[in-house]
Amino acid sequence: MSSKLSTFICQNCGTETSQYFGKCLNCKSWNTIVEEIKSKRKKNQDTKNKKSLAFNEISSKKISRFTSGFREFDRVLGGGIVPGSVVLLGGEPGIGKSTLVLQSAGKISLNEKVLYITAEESLEQVKIRWERLNQSSFDLKIFAETNLSLIIEEIKRINPSFAVIDSIQAIHNDEMESSPGSVSQVRACSSELQNLAKDNNIALLIIGHVTKDGALAGPKTLEHLVDTVINFAGDNISSHRLLRSIKNRFGSTFEIGIFEMLEEGLREIKNPSSIFTNKENISGVTTTITNQGTRPLAVDIQALVNKTFYSNPRRTTTGISINRLHQILAVIEKHVEIKLSDFDCYIATGGGFEINDPSSDLGVAISILSSLKNIPPLASSAFIGELGLSGQVRKSNNLRTKIEEAVRLGIKNIVVPKLEEQLNNNFQNLINIKEISNIKEAVDFSLSK
Ligand code: TYD
Ligand code: MG
Repeated sequence: MSSKLSTFICQNCGTETSQYFGKCLNCKSWNTIVEEIKSKRKKNQDTKNKKSLAFNEISSKKISRFTSGFREFDRVLGGGIVPGSVVLLGGEPGIGKSTLVLQSAGKISLNEKVLYITAEESLEQVKIRWERLNQSSFDLKIFAETNLSLIIEEIKRINPSFAVIDSIQAIHNDEMESSPGSVSQVRACSSELQNLAKDNNIALLIIGHVTKDGALAGPKTLEHLVDTVINFAGDNISSHRLLRSIKNRFGSTFEIGIFEMLEEGLREIKNPSSIFTNKENISGVTTTITNQGTRPLAVDIQALVNKTFYSNPRRTTTGISINRLHQILAVIEKHVEIKLSDFDCYIATGGGFEINDPSSDLGVAISILSSLKNIPPLASSAFIGELGLSGQVRKSNNLRTKIEEAVRLGIKNIVVPKLEEQLNNNFQNLINIKEISNIKEAVDFSLSK
């Protein structure tokens, strides 16, 4: 039994209303509301004798994850793919999502049954890509289809351990009249696929395109539906690509995976600190070590400080937040007693890598002063520490792993907040650790000629 139902859905946030509005009541964006005809189906009344259980009745069989074939991908997933889980992989068109997932599907198929559903490209196009990637596969099937019910039938027929939908915006449920990629289609298709995956213990990876402002196209509600949301991003200049999890029911969301796009597909970068640092000792550049999940990462911070020609000096940043820069400049003015209001200040991290770790403050401050004074910082050094508003250098998380990374990279001096004595003893003879308690001490130590 089906009846037609018309609703109005915001294509930006997914809010549903019963009438048309020019401006969405929820996300306040203009002209995003579109009428969509839904056909209401009678709910499948599935009452499989389910009942509540006590803890001792629930089996605690350990879920065994399987590898995606890439260590970097596994790390972002929280240690591999969880059977029966649904992962949403988002990224701008052309960034390399299909390439990553096809390579991964090939590797997984050596041990598991894999079905790759391509809704955007023909079988021949996938074949051409596959030949380019030049890798082996075993139990990998490719299915080119856009119709949801045919896709579901094929998944049931093959019953794979791992299935890929490339992409969710290209498939449609023909019981609905709205076009593929619209909010209600994306939502309905995802939830049917999600149920199928859970019922049959199939790990499902759904690819979705993101819009220019970085939101996953289609409703935000899609993010609530799936277990894990991963974003694949990079810039158009370099060939590096970053995999980051935004939500993960099975692991931390701080992990990142780093890849490089080559002629023959994606390659993992096993030593990522090397791509964001440039070991030259020049004025205006320092190195900091930030934590990305379980992994420390060395990143350069570059500053350019120039006399301004404007009434309001220019301040721009790439990779750190502009508010942090304003705060650091204010701390320098007050506690190092250097006037910066006549200077423009530009900050950029190595490779534009986005740093959210506040312990990068000290590196930013030293870079600014190094550029201003035109003195290179202490040779072979790294700077770690969050700047307090009163000029003190505050404790940083995971200092031990950060110092270990500096040792591994062959850095000779590291400037850090005060440590526990024992930690300092651990690194004797490996690296010169300079403990400081405020910014003035850090400047005196690292910028004296
Ligand atoms: P693709 O995986 O199709 O992107 P998405 O699925 O995210 O839209 O990647 C497309 C880009 O990747 C394209 O510009 C060509 C480039 N590429 C390579 O550089 N090397 C390769 O081996 C492959 C397959 C693609
Ligand atoms: Mg693609």
